[in-house]
Amino acid sequence: MKVGVIGVGNLGMALAKKACKNAEVVAVKRKVVEVEGVEVTDRIEDVGDCDVILVALKPDVFRMELERIGRVAGEKPVVSFAAGVKLDEMRRHIKIPFRAMTNIATSLIAYWPAETFQHISFLDTEFIECSNEGELDIMTAYLGSSPSILAYLMHTFILSAIRDGVDYAKSLKVAVSAFKATAELYDRLGLEGVLKKIATPAGTTIEGVIRVSEAQRALIEALSATSSKARVI
Ligand SMILES: NC(=O)c1ccc[n+]([C@@H]2O[C@H](COP(=O)([O-])OP(=O)(O)OC[C@H]3O[C@@H](n4cnc5c(N)ncnc54)[C@H](OP(=O)(O)O)[C@@H]3O)[C@@H](O)[C@H]2O)c1
Repeated sequence: MKVGVIGVGNLGMALAKKACKNAEVVAVKRKVVEVEGVEVTDRIEDVGDCDVILVALKPDVFRMELERIGRVAGEKPVVSFAAGVKLDEMRRHIKIPFRAMTNIATSLIAYWPAETFQHISFLDTEFIECSNEGELDIMTAYLGSSPSILAYLMHTFILSAIRDGVDYAKSLKVAVSAFKATAELYDRLGLEGVLKKIATPAGTTIEGVIRVSEAQRALIEALSATSSKARVI
């Protein structure tokens, strides 16, 4: 299988590195760099013989290059990871367009429509199918942008530990461990299960739990501001 990746920056590079584990990869950017296992070129035309073309360009650049990409792709599927560029916009120049979203960890990929999966399943990661294109747009916030938003929450956790007298290195280690443990425990037990097993009646945990509502409100505002922008960018 041969895969083209157009736009090899933060996200495109992560996708190209993932793709090259299972496919031959031709990656396009204007300033060519050396990447192990990936052929990098500055000519969009070089992805013409690929079986599938992934696009990770900024939305404005993708819109400028739509016609050229459509010409090069011909009857080949084009899967866009760009924020906001709708399938209807892509269809003006691209015959077989699809959309997907992930973040630079590429550990989970959301896609729409359902047929997208057959063109990206080689990426060997977890996948979720969106219910419609609007939900895919929302994934730009919850999947694409969320690591940089949640990193601030982690950093706040670290600042608090430092204020309580723990040094930076230990605070960082504890924060990473606590966030990983939370994801695993929440997935396994749900909120109620976590609360039942950790918050002892009249204990220490409940003192913190009853004070997190402001942080919840701030997180909802941060994520919904991001998803609102993702719908219109
Ligand atoms: N970064 C993330 O975590 C993330 C997460 C989810 C979705 N996304 C989406 O992914 C897209 C790219 O974001 P990004 O953060 O990866 O941006 P980025 O780091 O700026 O990457 C874009 C790349 O496109 C290349 N490029 C620019 N013009 C080009 C052209 N005409 N032809 C070929 N290559 C060109 C640039 O390299 P040269 O300057 O060498 O050409 C640049 O490295 C956006 O639509 C964004 O919404 C990003």
